Amino acid sequence: MQSFEIKPNVHWVGAIDWNIRDFHGYSTNKGSTYNAFLVKDEKVALFDIVKKPFVSELLHNIHAVVDPGKIDYLIVNHVEMDHSGALPEIVERVKPSKIICSEMGKKALIEHYHRSDWPYQTVKSGETLSLGNKTVQFLETRMVHWPDSMFSYLAEDRLLISSDGFGQHWATSERFDDQVDHSELFSHAAKYYANILLLYSPLVQKLLGNVQKMGLEIDMIAPDHGLLWRSHVGEIINAYDEWSRQTFKNKAVVIYDTMWHSTESMAKSIARGLMQEGVIVKMFNLQFSHRSDILTEVLDARALIMGSATLNNGMLPRMADILCYMKGLKPLNKMGFAFGSYGWSGEAAKSIQEALEEMKVEIVEPCLRVKFVPTHDDLKQCVEMGRKTGKRIMAG
Ligand code: FEO
Repeated sequence: MQSFEIKPNVHWVGAIDWNIRDFHGYSTNKGSTYNAFLVKDEKVALFDIVKKPFVSELLHNIHAVVDPGKIDYLIVNHVEMDHSGALPEIVERVKPSKIICSEMGKKALIEHYHRSDWPYQTVKSGETLSLGNKTVQFLETRMVHWPDSMFSYLAEDRLLISSDGFGQHWATSERFDDQVDHSELFSHAAKYYANILLLYSPLVQKLLGNVQKMGLEIDMIAPDHGLLWRSHVGEIINAYDEWSRQTFKNKAVVIYDTMWHSTESMAKSIARGLMQEGVIVKMFNLQFSHRSDILTEVLDARALIMGSATLNNGMLPRMADILCYMKGLKPLNKMGFAFGSYGWSGEAAKSIQEALEEMKVEIVEPCLRVKFVPTHDDLKQCVEMGRKTGKRIMAG
């Protein structure tokens, strides 16, 4: 893809990664993009870099607008290597007069690239930089997604360059939100939020408040991943508000792994009970579902019901995997319970319940265990537990 003018003299010059399928444990099954933006004013500034293997693509796109040697400032909104991996080569090529980043950004850049001799200039929230006709205002956004992160706001263009905020891992030939399917776009944005930002939800709330307090007028949000927002700006900001407040629907997620289908029968009976009460149910057998797709459904669920057969005095390994992943992302405001079949020792359901308790899930029923293969009565009990939990969900 060639460069693309998104605002007068502001060009998208990033790279499209059609092939990435894993982003530190997140299944990026539709690829991603590493967006970078070139502003051509009296001073020329490049906002964000790209992942190291995409340096030629970045340089090619810059060349279509300006000789890379004419770039004055490199603005590093975020140090994670999907946005800074190509920085050493770009610094060599461009020889910028300034590399602008937050104080934490400078520290992290030195810790990544071991170049304390680069021409850093650190900025704080509210500080501005004039490029000539355009002014950049910086806003530190700690932990969205790393301590060094910041947004850059171009007031004259009402353009917010938002780094990881408002992103989606989705490789497309289109660049704007109104050029793609709306529902698929929001499902990628939700998946991104659930898997990257969920644990920082209190900080996202604070950030949304700060953006409001600063009175930034925004008619385009340009994240570093995925589509740029120009037609659904209010909608994505509202979605971030809801996701970060961790509001929920009358929805339950039933997650299980099974050895000889006994735990699976229990899961299906629990789901039946939930459905009888009118609850939306999403059910995942861990043998066929990726942890990051499951977390996307957990985002707005009220109940988290998890089961595993017992293997070697513990839970099945895929259940341990998702519990570890989920615990890190800190979903809040959930109720739930644990279940599972066993042969003789039966620790799995108890261990899952402990993990749910650690995540502050409100345990609505003691864990349900069935020896070997469930009887008709056992399955009736599963349906009943589903119904009881369903009633609580529907009661609000
Ligand atoms: Fe897209 Fe935190 O990196």
